[in-house]
Amino acid sequence: MKIAFVIGTRPEIIKMSPLIDEVKHRGINYILVHTGQHYDHEMSQQFFTDLELEKPHYNIGVGSGAHGEQTSMMISRIEEVLLEEKPDLVLVEGDTNAVLAGALVAAKLHIPVGHVEAGLRSYDKTMPEEINRMVADVCTQLFFVPTLTTATNLLLEGVSPKNIFITGNTVVDACQRNLKIARKHSNLAGEIDPRANVLTLTLHRAENVDHPWRLSQIVNSLLELDDLTIIFPVHPRTAKNLHKFGLYRKLDEAPHVQIIKPMGYLEFLLLLSESHLVMTDSGGIQEEAITLNLPCITLRYNTERPETVEAGGNILVGTTQKKIVNSIRNILSDEDLYRSMKEASNPYGDGTASKKIVDIISEIESRGELKIEAPDFITGVTTTKLISVDQDINVSKFEDKYRGIVKIVFEDGKIIFPEPGLNLKDKLVLISGTEL
Ligand code: UD1
Ligand code: UDP
Repeated sequence: MKIAFVIGTRPEIIKMSPLIDEVKHRGINYILVHTGQHYDHEMSQQFFTDLELEKPHYNIGVGSGAHGEQTSMMISRIEEVLLEEKPDLVLVEGDTNAVLAGALVAAKLHIPVGHVEAGLRSYDKTMPEEINRMVADVCTQLFFVPTLTTATNLLLEGVSPKNIFITGNTVVDACQRNLKIARKHSNLAGEIDPRANVLTLTLHRAENVDHPWRLSQIVNSLLELDDLTIIFPVHPRTAKNLHKFGLYRKLDEAPHVQIIKPMGYLEFLLLLSESHLVMTDSGGIQEEAITLNLPCITLRYNTERPETVEAGGNILVGTTQKKIVNSIRNILSDEDLYRSMKEASNPYGDGTASKKIVDIISEIESRGELKIEAPDFITGVTTTKLISVDQDINVSKFEDKYRGIVKIVFEDGKIIFPEPGLNLKDKLVLISGTEL
């Protein structure tokens, strides 16, 4: 078996790293394809160094550009690589343009796609990431989802539960493993004053930083929060726009705000672990915060990580100065609220997602099912029915009886994931098949 990993940006390098390690450890053949969407040393190479990853086999160097320009270049170059390398599986992670391009090319070449962190939905199609997630999931065969909530999103879009695997998120694997390494790294220790109320800030989402009013509201809130120490490793997109909108100097001159370059992963994990709060519009950092028991304030109006909000570790505050400042003051003045945010339980698993994913891939491959073949028999016409079940029968037996696939199970108004052994008595079952 040969696996092609397609990555392009900082978070993909981080979240794919435990999977690459696992594949390597098991002696599975693989290639690493970097689209080159992130190319600055501190947005790309630094993570290969920190995570001890070898150089990508291909760096197709697309660089920055408009969506069409960047994605079309990725599509044509990834296609060349996949035609040359003929992998048995393409793995993509998350929701960047690399995910859209990698999944689309592989699907058209009839190479199975495994989407790591599949099924996330913000239900906000103005986000480029939402389009990427949705298109990638149309092209995906193996959906490695972090939680039951994300699995449910896919069930509701008609994905067969047979192809959905709830594994947790590899961010936990990466975070746990690398924080230990970071703590051992002597030259990183002791740089943060433990007495300071440190708020770490990251910001890069297009809908915030390309928007002058929103960005200035966020900057004004930082200026107002002058009793905190704010550490702000600035993403290049944000740095560019802070300059463009005349906001950089204001922040730079504020003594309580430290604007610094994007940090390496080890250094950043250490900073998070020693911070009092994190404020962000990042996807990955919402997940890392709850993993590290760090209260998180999210500068967005929606999130594809609702589990963090439901668990109580994350609050969506939007981007107005008043709401941001009030929320932070509220969390800092209410010890019970702060403690409950810190103690929120992590919905993203126990750090074994990468092992689970490679186990699943290996098992499917050993059954000879890691392939896409055009049917050479008349498939029949698929119909879907809702059936109320009044007998003791599990999902597998029910599927045999009706020669179909149980797509969704409802009980008392709730959706239940149709595991093969689930007893269907007194439940409503949505089943699809050709002989119903
Ligand atoms: C991309 C992803 C986003 C992800 C983020 C992670 C898409 C559509 N967006 O956003 O989902 O959350 O990465 O950080 O795929 N730039 C540099 N140096 C670099 C990279 C970028 O200077 O190494 C600057 C360029 O001016 C570029 C801008 O940042 O135009 C935006 O970069 P781009 O890769 O297009 O999007 P991100 O905002 O990084
Ligand atoms: N990160 C980092 N250094 C930084 C800022 C972030 O190593 O200065 C890491 C962070 O730990 C997380 C990932 O980058 O794992 C998140 O990337 P980003 O916020 O750019 O993208 P998103 O997760 O929103 O797609």
